[in-house]
Amino acid sequence: MTHILAIDQGTTSSRAMIFDAALHPVASAGQEFPQHFPASGWVEHDPRDLWTSVAGSCRAAIEKAGLRAGDIAAIGITNQRETTLIWDRATGKPIHNAIVWQDRRTADTCAALREAGHEAAITQATGLLLDPYFSGTKIKWILDHVEGARTRAKAGELAFGTVDTWLIWNLTGGAVHATDATNAARTMLFDIRTGEWSDEICALLDIPRAILPEVCDCAADFGHARADLFGAEIPILGVAGDQQAATIGQACFRPGMMKSTYGTGCFALLNTGPEMVQSQNRLLTTIAYQLDGQRTYAQEGSIFIAGAVVQWLRDGLKIIREARETQPLAMAADPAQDVVIVPAFTGLGAPYWRPDTRGAVFGLTRNSGPAEFARAALESVGFQTRDLWEAMRADWQGAGDSVLRVDGGMCASDWTMQFLADILGAPVDRAEVQETTALGAAWLAGMRAGVCPGMEDFAESWRCERRFTPAMEAGARDARYGRWQKAVAAAMQV
Ligand code: G3P
Repeated sequence: MTHILAIDQGTTSSRAMIFDAALHPVASAGQEFPQHFPASGWVEHDPRDLWTSVAGSCRAAIEKAGLRAGDIAAIGITNQRETTLIWDRATGKPIHNAIVWQDRRTADTCAALREAGHEAAITQATGLLLDPYFSGTKIKWILDHVEGARTRAKAGELAFGTVDTWLIWNLTGGAVHATDATNAARTMLFDIRTGEWSDEICALLDIPRAILPEVCDCAADFGHARADLFGAEIPILGVAGDQQAATIGQACFRPGMMKSTYGTGCFALLNTGPEMVQSQNRLLTTIAYQLDGQRTYAQEGSIFIAGAVVQWLRDGLKIIREARETQPLAMAADPAQDVVIVPAFTGLGAPYWRPDTRGAVFGLTRNSGPAEFARAALESVGFQTRDLWEAMRADWQGAGDSVLRVDGGMCASDWTMQFLADILGAPVDRAEVQETTALGAAWLAGMRAGVCPGMEDFAESWRCERRFTPAMEAGARDARYGRWQKAVAAAMQV
């Protein structure tokens, strides 16, 4: 048993990757699944799609690798976080579609709770802000809207889970109802100081404790995948939310180390060690990982639009046909023009948290064209990362004096990564293994199974593919960032 199966269940697709014991990727397979938008601002997934796309991807990856289930020492799971499911314990049938993290239907509930003065206590306990992003108000919404659900929840007939919990339930044939501390930390029901579900917050949202899963370490025994699924039983030994798994995959194990993942959005996590730094600058405090009962904390900044700005150039403005056309276009932009795009298409995330703000473009001239839009779009990702970097530095002394490790689709653009280094004034390291999320989950499971190296050796084996060193002169950096800050302030006033 020499290989690890990592499941990466994301917002738009499910993937399975096989790693060998040295944590080299061997094979992968993936499937996209439909997104459902039943009303404006609502986003749902069919729970069956999540499960079948995962099971299908696992079978395909095992086959591609030329392995049998008996060759696999362990399964590691990583997943889109906060997405909320509730199902019937007896039948395993969901009582509602999964409400996805992007869904804003509980904005009014959050506003009412804030007005009633509950935000400070929730932030103290959970490290989160009162926002529809997190699972708590989504659970409440399902219990409020599905007939008889709350009564059945109180009677212990229903189970809640984030996507990891739903997958564990299905993999084990309903034998295990569990999650890990990083996923629990995103529910807004979990006290990250004590590592326990919060009775106070559950009472506030009228959520019965009987519905909640057991919370385990990230490397722990989560039961066995049933033999009939893949041909032999496989133990599930690692679980972490996807951004935490990427932090692990990037080997950000020391306080002060920071990673940023550029997918549709961008999520930056800064390891703050055993210290739980409460943000004064509207960042989130979260659990980076929990091993042997010890919690390591992180500060997190979430940007909703990163790669999505390139999709907008392609699908909205139609000035490119493929994402990879963006970089050459940006490089051809007129250096004398300074177009700034604030891509607040769905509001602004950290550190502004302004769901009401919308996108804006500044500095247009008669000569502004596709090239200037492309450059401004890519630069907006760098500027937004600098916003997070500044907030982290203001919150915590140990932040921002080192290097930013990056991964995700947008990192393929050298130009964008160079701009990022320039505008941060700090080196940016692009990881050799770009599948850091799956790698993190694989390491957790493989380490627990005893086939993969321990933390120190794993960190030693991390490789930088390319370092981008800041080349922009300090005066220009300050001027450009100052202009971005003015643009965001103006966008928030419109
Ligand atoms: O918090 C949401 C995040 O976990 C989603 O990640 O990669 O599925 O968009 P992703």
